[in-house]
Amino acid sequence: MTDTATLRARNADFWAQTSPGWVHQADRHDEIGRPLGAVALDQLQPQPGERVLDVGCGCGGTTAEIARAVGPSGNAVGLDLAEAMVATARSRFSVPGAAGPQFVTGDIETLGAVPGAPFDAVYARMTLMLLADPVAGLTTIRRSMRSGGRMAATVFRDGGANPGCRARCSVRRHICDRCRRCRSATTPAPSHSPTRPAQPGFSPPPASPASTSTRTT
Ligand SMILES: C[S@@+](CC[C@H](N)C(=O)[O-])C[C@H]1O[C@@H](n2cnc3c(N)ncnc32)[C@H](O)[C@@H]1O
Repeated sequence: MTDTATLRARNADFWAQTSPGWVHQADRHDEIGRPLGAVALDQLQPQPGERVLDVGCGCGGTTAEIARAVGPSGNAVGLDLAEAMVATARSRFSVPGAAGPQFVTGDIETLGAVPGAPFDAVYARMTLMLLADPVAGLTTIRRSMRSGGRMAATVFRDGGANPGCRARCSVRRHICDRCRRCRSATTPAPSHSPTRPAQPGFSPPPASPASTSTRTT
């Protein structure tokens, strides 16, 4: 069994190695990723004036969308592990001297507190299932939210429940050296396990096959 510190280091390596592709395809990812997060964003309904955290923001497209919803009186903070993606998010969406999304580099599992906390709401698109220690990540999220705050996230389920995803990965493995390297650097383990957010202090989410939204107790 691989220990959490090793999984975290692999996770950081993986995202550092794959960042150039995400940066290069940032506009395309915004477009193809939108349907993957739309249900959760609809449920979260960021309101004008709210402070919202976007965990695993990648190159910032979702944070920018949230920033538009909360408006100039609110605050949208995107957090990501990968420095190159955060730098790209800043250059794509930050407006010097003006209200707009803010971007922070950090590991949600090990940050004591997220700059900008406490948040009214937290959003995460396709990130939580990748954490080495989801309970640690959700604990930081819980600690960074105000009491009664809400969270909505979308995640992939395991490969067995996503045959399309498994098929794409196996095709890529045959055609792409980088993918083969990535695969050896990211042996799945706890990072790919579904986790209920109850342990860090969230109330149970309503049952939904497509997304999870929940509220702090
Ligand atoms: C599958 S990508 C999704 C990016 C973006 N949310 C989207 O939907 O386009 C997962 C993102 O989570 C980030 N990530 C992974 N582990 C993280 C951690 N422990 N803390 C913060 N971000 C993390 C990665 O760097 C990556 O940008």
